[in-house]
Amino acid sequence: MNILVLGSGGREHAFAWKIKQSNRCDNLYVAPGNAGTAEIATNLSIDPKNFQEVKETVIDHQIDILLVGPEEPLVLGITDFFLAETACKDLLVVGPEKAGALLEGSKDFSKSFMQRHNVPTAKSKTFEASTLEEGFLFLETLQAPYVLKADGLAAGKGVIITEDLSEAKNTLKEMLVEAKFGKASTKVVIEEFLKGIELSVFVLTDGENYKILPEAKDYKRIGEGDKGLNTGGMGAVSPVPFADTAFMKKVEEKVVLPTVNGLKKDQIVYKGFIFIGLMNVNGEPFVIEYNVRMGDPETEVVLPRIDSDLVDLLIGAASGTLDKVDFKTTKLHASTVVGVSGGYPESYQKGKEIIGLDQTGESIVFHAGTSLSDGKVLTSGGRVIAFSALGNNLEEALSNSYKAIENVNWEDIYYRKDIGQDLLNWQ
Ligand code: AMP
Ligand code: GLY
Repeated sequence: MNILVLGSGGREHAFAWKIKQSNRCDNLYVAPGNAGTAEIATNLSIDPKNFQEVKETVIDHQIDILLVGPEEPLVLGITDFFLAETACKDLLVVGPEKAGALLEGSKDFSKSFMQRHNVPTAKSKTFEASTLEEGFLFLETLQAPYVLKADGLAAGKGVIITEDLSEAKNTLKEMLVEAKFGKASTKVVIEEFLKGIELSVFVLTDGENYKILPEAKDYKRIGEGDKGLNTGGMGAVSPVPFADTAFMKKVEEKVVLPTVNGLKKDQIVYKGFIFIGLMNVNGEPFVIEYNVRMGDPETEVVLPRIDSDLVDLLIGAASGTLDKVDFKTTKLHASTVVGVSGGYPESYQKGKEIIGLDQTGESIVFHAGTSLSDGKVLTSGGRVIAFSALGNNLEEALSNSYKAIENVNWEDIYYRKDIGQDLLNWQ
């Protein structure tokens, strides 16, 4: 089969790496891809948001499966576009239609979805500029910290958490009246703060059946000890020790089942990944957010723990036959440590030569922000490379990830040295 993966990050390199292992894959394309995907697939320099361009590529390269990595094309309706294209009627698309992508595209929609289908989540209310004063009153009824969320996509920056009531009110005004996040903050969800420990759970569904993929914990802050600015993710581990069998059973019964059934009840056709951001509050799962794609860097620890053929799973999801597909995971532990450009997540330089990539030992190197120039691999983004590794336990996996990253260098490389440390002695 000919497969096209849309996207250019570590997640897409990990998808390509796993797809490449399937003997059902004849030709693999990544668009636009990066220097890592160029080693195992053909990169095509097209914009995933330009559906016409994607369509021409699908036709020219006789693509059978389209796997959409990032959320933006999904929220813009790429799946609906291809379903309506008679020229591509046999194409299998992995990714929800626009109506399903709203689970990530609108916090207000996803909160009402959860309330409608009894999915446990923080209590919340949504406000607009015309209801600003009511928003202030609502904030006064809550305990600090205050959680404010821009309704639309805001590149991971749309959530503000503050201890201070007057700051919360000011932020609400900035978001609603002064368009702090542009159109994304035309509506703002204010919700209760959940105290607990976070994890990410991933589901692949064909709309009827589902597989729960290995869970993961992401390290989002730039600094060690989870300090400093939020990033796209500085590292991840899987499995997560506090997601034991009892907890995961609750996740399945209280979150996954009502979510998949809720989509069906709402007549939303959903064939793709659901990434559920969860807070474990005293052993009970609460949904913080849905994403309609896989996580990055979580994919870089989730896929190495799946033994089954990913192409079979993708076909199952897109064609409604996921119940027939074998699904096995490994008991091995996986970790990933992300090397970033100095300065990230604020401004940083690009175009630095990456050296040492031939000395990464046991690890699996997933490129995120890299490009090729005259045979050299250069940095081209904030998050540059995710160094993933497997081990018999978390300590061994981490040791393999760190051994690899220590041998690689570029000017101003930075990475967190404490990924997974909080989980090593988890009781
Ligand atoms: P989101 O963009 O929805 O993932 O939110 C970003 C981060 O804010 C999450 O990963 C959590 O760490 C935090 N967060 C969001 N909502 C809440 C909440 N209700 N209580 C506590 N923390 C939250
Ligand atoms: N690592 C978090 C995300 O992919 O949104």
